[in-house]
Amino acid sequence: MIPVILSGGSGTRLWPLSREAFPKQFLSLVGEDSMLQATWQRVAPLASAAPIVVANEDHRFMVAEQLRESGCGKATILLEPVARNTAPAIAVAALEAMAGGNDPLLLVLPSDHVIVNAEGFRQAAQAAAGAAEDGALITFGIVPTGPETGYGYILAEMGEGVRRVIEFVEKPDAETAKTYVASGDYFWNSGMFMFRASVFLGELAAHQPAMLTSCREALAKARRDEDFVRLDKAAFAASPSDSIDYAVMEKTQAAAILPINVGWNDVGSWSALWEVAEQDGDGNAHHGDVLAQDCRNTLAWGDGRLVALLGLEDVVVVDTADAVLVAHKDKVQEVKGIVSSLKKRG
Ligand code: GDD
Ligand code: MG
Repeated sequence: MIPVILSGGSGTRLWPLSREAFPKQFLSLVGEDSMLQATWQRVAPLASAAPIVVANEDHRFMVAEQLRESGCGKATILLEPVARNTAPAIAVAALEAMAGGNDPLLLVLPSDHVIVNAEGFRQAAQAAAGAAEDGALITFGIVPTGPETGYGYILAEMGEGVRRVIEFVEKPDAETAKTYVASGDYFWNSGMFMFRASVFLGELAAHQPAMLTSCREALAKARRDEDFVRLDKAAFAASPSDSIDYAVMEKTQAAAILPINVGWNDVGSWSALWEVAEQDGDGNAHHGDVLAQDCRNTLAWGDGRLVALLGLEDVVVVDTADAVLVAHKDKVQEVKGIVSSLKKRG
């Protein structure tokens, strides 16, 4: 199977560490490798070829350098001149994978998630391969821990192992998410998928034909050099912008799910990072030169200077060269709002 790594997101909720020019997937948030590098390392033993990585043109040198460092061989790096969300990104990867008449299994992976039990995930991916070979679009499901509205929710048939998806609802409102979680019948979509390239493209042809046409043209007219495949700007920009979740997973009849329990976390916020970070006996997690006295459940991120915390609970402090964030742990989803205000301020 060929890993397809999506590296085009902007990760604004991890501001001020994650920036437009240096988003989350390129940061080393857990361990020494960047999130992108860790993504490749996690699946390297499964890969039949170097990965296809889809990224924004602006990040091309960072992507190439980080992949080179992680020793993944000659990755195919597809560059997007503009962001069109995940469905077109996966479409160009699937089209590229089919060049030369192949129809490989694709393992589609966000570049910015943590998985504590990598071996467990590899076993799950192997267990899903048969159903994917047979034409299913597999998603890996997570047992929800709360009514988060940033996830896809999946109702599946009862049973063991891979089973059919009955309903896929992307980012429901809070009320709906609450009823789903209370029912105990729904999984979260982990955002990782497995399918044959041709199966995904077939679904796109059925549900998003204009997107498929634009992506085909963008790849056919791409400029190729030693390092990169630069998608044609006019063609790619003409594609509708949509995520795989809305464009395909909500609509397809061929979705199947394999629940996983592998310590998955999408590090969507500072509190999510706190959850996966190493904590002391009082629940404090530190990065860099940090001194915390009489603190509980704090996350402090130092980036050179000493950061000292005194008598705080449930607080996040992130120090960078040009900005400091001090936030309550319950409010960190709203860091996104700070980033928007900053953009308006110019
Ligand atoms: N190449 C490329 N181009 N990559 C992109 C683009 C794009 O335009 N937009 C997003 N990505 C990458 C992000 O970097 C991330 O790794 C992945 O695709 C998913 O995008 P997100 O923007 O993070 O999606 P989400 O978190 O809102 O929702 C998805 O993930 C959830 C789990 O974390 C959905 O699949 C949900 O259903 C799922 O629950
Ligand atoms: Mg995400």
